Amino acid sequence: MKAIWKTIVCFAIVAGIIGSAYAQFARTDDAIKYRQAVMFLIGQHMGRMAAMVKGKQPYNQKNFLRNAVLVETLSKLPWDSFLLAGSDKGQTKMKSEVLENKEKFEEAAQNLETEMAKLVSAANGSDFNAIKAQFGAVGKSCKNCHDQFRSR
Ligand code: HEC
Repeated sequence: MKAIWKTIVCFAIVAGIIGSAYAQFARTDDAIKYRQAVMFLIGQHMGRMAAMVKGKQPYNQKNFLRNAVLVETLSKLPWDSFLLAGSDKGQTKMKSEVLENKEKFEEAAQNLETEMAKLVSAANGSDFNAIKAQFGAVGKSCKNCHDQFRSR
Protein backbone atom coordinates (compact mmCIF):
# COMPACT_ATOMS: atom_id res chain seq x y z
CA MET A 1 0.00 0.00 0.00
CA LYS A 2 2.79 2.40 0.98
CA ALA A 3 4.63 1.69 -2.27
CA ILE A 4 1.53 2.59 -4.27
CA TRP A 5 1.24 5.91 -2.49
CA LYS A 6 4.88 6.65 -3.12
CA THR A 7 4.46 5.88 -6.79
CA ILE A 8 1.41 8.11 -7.08
CA VAL A 9 3.08 10.97 -5.22
CA CYS A 10 6.28 10.65 -7.27
CA PHE A 11 4.24 10.58 -10.45
CA ALA A 12 2.33 13.67 -9.38
CA ILE A 13 5.50 15.55 -8.48
CA VAL A 14 7.30 14.57 -11.69
CA ALA A 15 4.22 15.40 -13.72
CA GLY A 16 4.11 18.76 -11.93
CA ILE A 17 7.68 19.57 -12.86
CA ILE A 18 7.27 18.39 -16.44
CA GLY A 19 3.87 20.05 -16.62
CA SER A 20 5.23 23.48 -15.77
CA ALA A 21 8.41 23.10 -17.81
CA TYR A 22 6.76 21.83 -20.98
CA ALA A 23 3.23 23.07 -21.08
CA GLN A 24 2.72 21.58 -24.52
CA PHE A 25 0.92 18.54 -25.75
CA ALA A 26 1.73 16.84 -29.02
CA ARG A 27 -1.96 16.35 -29.80
CA THR A 28 -5.24 17.73 -28.46
CA ASP A 29 -6.16 14.10 -27.64
CA ASP A 30 -3.21 13.95 -25.23
CA ALA A 31 -4.33 17.13 -23.48
CA ILE A 32 -7.87 15.72 -23.12
CA LYS A 33 -6.62 12.39 -21.75
CA TYR A 34 -4.23 14.15 -19.41
CA ARG A 35 -6.83 16.39 -17.80
CA GLN A 36 -9.40 13.58 -17.59
CA ALA A 37 -6.80 11.36 -15.90
CA VAL A 38 -5.93 14.08 -13.37
CA MET A 39 -9.62 14.82 -12.73
CA PHE A 40 -10.26 11.10 -12.30
CA LEU A 41 -7.53 10.86 -9.66
CA ILE A 42 -8.83 13.99 -7.95
CA GLY A 43 -12.30 12.42 -7.89
CA GLN A 44 -10.98 9.17 -6.38
CA HIS A 45 -9.07 10.89 -3.59
CA MET A 46 -11.92 13.28 -2.86
CA GLY A 47 -14.14 10.20 -2.56
CA ARG A 48 -11.85 8.71 0.09
CA MET A 49 -12.05 11.91 2.13
CA ALA A 50 -15.81 12.18 1.58
CA ALA A 51 -16.28 8.71 3.08
CA MET A 52 -14.63 9.92 6.29
CA VAL A 53 -16.45 13.27 6.32
CA LYS A 54 -19.77 11.45 5.93
CA GLY A 55 -18.90 8.90 8.60
CA LYS A 56 -18.98 5.94 6.20
CA GLN A 57 -15.38 5.28 7.19
CA PRO A 58 -13.84 6.09 10.55
CA TYR A 59 -11.88 9.33 10.48
CA ASN A 60 -8.14 8.71 10.35
CA GLN A 61 -6.06 11.85 10.43
CA LYS A 62 -3.00 10.47 8.67
CA ASN A 63 -5.03 8.93 5.91
CA PHE A 64 -7.19 12.04 5.44
CA LEU A 65 -4.16 14.33 5.35
CA ARG A 66 -2.42 12.12 2.80
CA ASN A 67 -5.44 12.35 0.50
CA ALA A 68 -5.70 16.10 1.01
CA VAL A 69 -2.01 16.64 0.16
CA LEU A 70 -2.40 14.49 -2.95
CA VAL A 71 -5.43 16.41 -4.20
CA GLU A 72 -3.64 19.67 -3.46
CA THR A 73 -0.73 18.54 -5.67
CA LEU A 74 -3.04 17.18 -8.35
CA SER A 75 -5.01 20.44 -8.40
CA LYS A 76 -1.88 22.23 -9.62
CA LEU A 77 -1.39 19.98 -12.64
CA PRO A 78 -4.08 20.05 -15.27
CA TRP A 79 -4.97 23.64 -16.11
CA ASP A 80 -2.71 24.13 -19.14
CA SER A 81 -4.22 21.02 -20.67
CA PHE A 82 -7.68 22.62 -20.53
CA LEU A 83 -6.52 25.78 -22.27
CA LEU A 84 -5.08 24.12 -25.37
CA ALA A 85 -6.73 25.49 -28.51
CA GLY A 86 -8.94 22.90 -30.21
CA SER A 87 -9.15 20.65 -27.14
CA ASP A 88 -12.85 21.49 -26.76
CA LYS A 89 -13.46 19.11 -29.68
CA GLY A 90 -13.30 15.32 -29.44
CA GLN A 91 -13.92 12.90 -26.56
CA THR A 92 -14.38 15.66 -24.02
CA LYS A 93 -17.01 17.24 -21.85
CA MET A 94 -15.17 20.52 -21.65
CA LYS A 95 -17.30 23.41 -22.91
CA SER A 96 -15.88 25.81 -25.49
CA GLU A 97 -16.50 28.56 -22.92
CA VAL A 98 -13.18 27.58 -21.32
CA LEU A 99 -11.27 28.79 -24.38
CA GLU A 100 -13.55 31.79 -24.88
CA ASN A 101 -13.26 32.89 -21.27
CA LYS A 102 -9.82 31.78 -20.11
CA GLU A 103 -9.61 34.29 -17.29
CA LYS A 104 -12.82 33.09 -15.71
CA PHE A 105 -11.66 29.49 -16.02
CA GLU A 106 -8.29 30.29 -14.47
CA GLU A 107 -10.07 32.04 -11.63
CA ALA A 108 -12.11 28.90 -10.95
CA ALA A 109 -8.92 26.81 -11.10
CA GLN A 110 -7.12 29.17 -8.71
CA ASN A 111 -10.10 29.01 -6.38
CA LEU A 112 -9.73 25.22 -6.11
CA GLU A 113 -6.00 25.53 -5.39
CA THR A 114 -6.72 28.07 -2.64
CA GLU A 115 -9.47 25.98 -1.04
CA MET A 116 -7.28 22.85 -1.21
CA ALA A 117 -4.41 24.62 0.56
CA LYS A 118 -6.89 25.56 3.30
CA LEU A 119 -8.08 21.96 3.53
CA VAL A 120 -4.51 20.75 4.00
CA SER A 121 -3.98 23.20 6.86
CA ALA A 122 -7.28 22.20 8.46
CA ALA A 123 -6.34 18.53 8.07
CA ASN A 124 -3.06 19.19 9.85
CA GLY A 125 -5.12 20.21 12.87
CA SER A 126 -7.57 18.25 14.93
CA ASP A 127 -10.78 20.31 14.59
CA PHE A 128 -12.97 17.83 12.72
CA ASN A 129 -15.78 20.38 12.28
CA ALA A 130 -13.36 22.78 10.60
CA ILE A 131 -12.14 19.95 8.36
CA LYS A 132 -15.71 19.07 7.40
CA ALA A 133 -16.58 22.70 6.66
CA GLN A 134 -13.48 23.17 4.52
CA PHE A 135 -14.12 19.89 2.68
CA GLY A 136 -17.52 21.36 1.81
CA ALA A 137 -15.87 24.53 0.51
CA VAL A 138 -13.62 22.43 -1.75
CA GLY A 139 -16.66 20.57 -3.08
CA LYS A 140 -18.34 23.89 -3.88
CA SER A 141 -15.26 24.93 -5.80
CA CYS A 142 -15.45 21.75 -7.93
CA LYS A 143 -19.14 22.31 -8.57
CA ASN A 144 -18.69 25.98 -9.40
CA CYS A 145 -16.30 25.13 -12.23
CA HIS A 146 -18.27 22.12 -13.48
CA ASP A 147 -21.49 24.16 -13.59
CA GLN A 148 -19.84 26.74 -15.81
CA PHE A 149 -17.41 24.75 -17.89
CA ARG A 150 -18.37 21.07 -18.07
CA SER A 151 -21.25 19.72 -20.11
CA ARG A 152 -23.37 16.89 -18.75
C1 HEC B 1 -11.49 25.01 -13.03
C2 HEC B 1 -12.44 24.00 -13.42
C3 HEC B 1 -12.59 22.71 -12.68
C4 HEC B 1 -12.42 22.47 -11.34
C5 HEC B 1 -12.04 23.45 -10.25
C6 HEC B 1 -12.71 21.07 -11.14
N1 HEC B 1 -13.03 20.47 -12.33
FE1 HEC B 1 -13.43 18.50 -12.60
N2 HEC B 1 -13.64 18.82 -14.60
C7 HEC B 1 -13.60 20.03 -15.23
C8 HEC B 1 -13.85 19.88 -16.65
C9 HEC B 1 -13.92 20.99 -17.69
C10 HEC B 1 -14.04 18.49 -16.86
C11 HEC B 1 -14.28 17.78 -18.21
C12 HEC B 1 -12.91 17.37 -18.79
C13 HEC B 1 -12.99 16.71 -20.14
O1 HEC B 1 -13.92 15.89 -20.38
O2 HEC B 1 -12.10 16.97 -20.98
C14 HEC B 1 -13.90 17.86 -15.56
C15 HEC B 1 -14.04 16.49 -15.31
C16 HEC B 1 -14.06 15.90 -14.08
C17 HEC B 1 -14.26 14.47 -13.83
C18 HEC B 1 -14.47 13.41 -14.91
C19 HEC B 1 -13.11 12.87 -15.32
C20 HEC B 1 -13.17 11.79 -16.40
O3 HEC B 1 -12.99 10.60 -16.06
O4 HEC B 1 -13.42 12.14 -17.58
C21 HEC B 1 -14.21 14.28 -12.49
C22 HEC B 1 -14.36 12.96 -11.72
C23 HEC B 1 -13.98 15.58 -11.86
N3 HEC B 1 -13.89 16.54 -12.88
C24 HEC B 1 -13.89 15.79 -10.51
C25 HEC B 1 -13.56 17.01 -9.92
C26 HEC B 1 -13.45 17.24 -8.50
C27 HEC B 1 -13.72 16.20 -7.43
C28 HEC B 1 -13.09 18.54 -8.34
C29 HEC B 1 -12.82 19.29 -7.06
C30 HEC B 1 -11.90 18.73 -6.09
C31 HEC B 1 -12.99 19.14 -9.67
N4 HEC B 1 -13.29 18.18 -10.59
C32 HEC B 1 -12.64 20.45 -9.90
C33 HEC B 1 -13.32 21.25 -14.63
C34 HEC B 1 -13.00 21.44 -13.30
